[in-house]
Amino acid sequence: MVTLSDFGCVSGRKATLYTIKNGKYSVSVSDFGATVVNLFVPDANGELTDVVIGLASAEDYENDDCYFGATVGRFANRIPKGRFTLGKKEYSLFVNDGPNHMHGGKVGFNRRFFDIEILSEHSIAAHLVSEDGDEGFPGTLDFKVVFSLSDKGEFSIEYFAKSDKDTVVNFTNHSYFNLAGFSSPLGVETQYLQVFADAYLPSDKYCMANGKIAPVKNTRFDLRRPTYLANVLIDKNGNVYDNGRIDHNYVLDIADKRVFKKAASFYSPESGILMETYTDMPGMQLYIANTLYPKKIKGGKKMRYSALCLETQNFPGSTEYSYFPSPVLKAGESFYSKTEYRFFIA
Ligand code: BGC
Repeated sequence: MVTLSDFGCVSGRKATLYTIKNGKYSVSVSDFGATVVNLFVPDANGELTDVVIGLASAEDYENDDCYFGATVGRFANRIPKGRFTLGKKEYSLFVNDGPNHMHGGKVGFNRRFFDIEILSEHSIAAHLVSEDGDEGFPGTLDFKVVFSLSDKGEFSIEYFAKSDKDTVVNFTNHSYFNLAGFSSPLGVETQYLQVFADAYLPSDKYCMANGKIAPVKNTRFDLRRPTYLANVLIDKNGNVYDNGRIDHNYVLDIADKRVFKKAASFYSPESGILMETYTDMPGMQLYIANTLYPKKIKGGKKMRYSALCLETQNFPGSTEYSYFPSPVLKAGESFYSKTEYRFFIA
């Protein structure tokens, strides 16, 4: 069943929240930013637990720069120096993260209204036309993201895009997960994460991938086994590593065969909720949040480690390094990609 409710107003336009309910599961998506606002799944005791950060209204999202739950486009993550070359032409983009372009620029997809179509009782499509030159990107881009929820706890996000000129794309969903739920004070450092990647992308101080691909073996980025996150965030003396942060892209499939595969497994012993992430994308940015604004977050969760993002996507730097999977979408070709979050009790 899909139900509609008011979700405030941005620049005189009313926002609507679409809630898909299927069995014990429900997810709410706003037409502003095609944003996932809440995602309720049952815990080991059958209590419904909201496992994503969400804000109260579309106005709050307009003023947010954490991309909570947002659909990110046209280009998720960073483009070095806000410049890329396609054909023989160089394109210049808005620089909004140190010297780099990030997450679609000044007015990315997260700050745009989408047209929503209810596809079935358990599926909605959010549609946006991004005009030629939008944020400096070439081509009119016809973009659609479809959210579907099964009664077995499978939440899928499918991306469709077509451009009338050659362009570059990289889409993701920026949900911040905490599997203890947002009524528990526990942070994600008390949870276990496994990432199915042998390599990651080292980066500079602006989190910009530097073109290298490094093995995770013998580094704190090695999450090939289920790993208690406190152990990779805090050292033996209680000091946090790298300002408490992991903000790196994991290499899931360097050959970019677009195989749908398990990328991560995330588990909270407190709630018993296990979430598996599947994707056909070659990369995944693991972002363990260390700089969120506690007052805004529902449940008043503490700031550090309140949540983490598993942003399935192409590699940051893919516009620059030709040996990375290509982000080019040729004129008239169809882009398709799927990510799915599956919930279990363990
Ligand atoms: C980036 C972070 C950034 C966050 C919120 C993540 O995808 O990798 O560096 O702080 O988004 O903008």
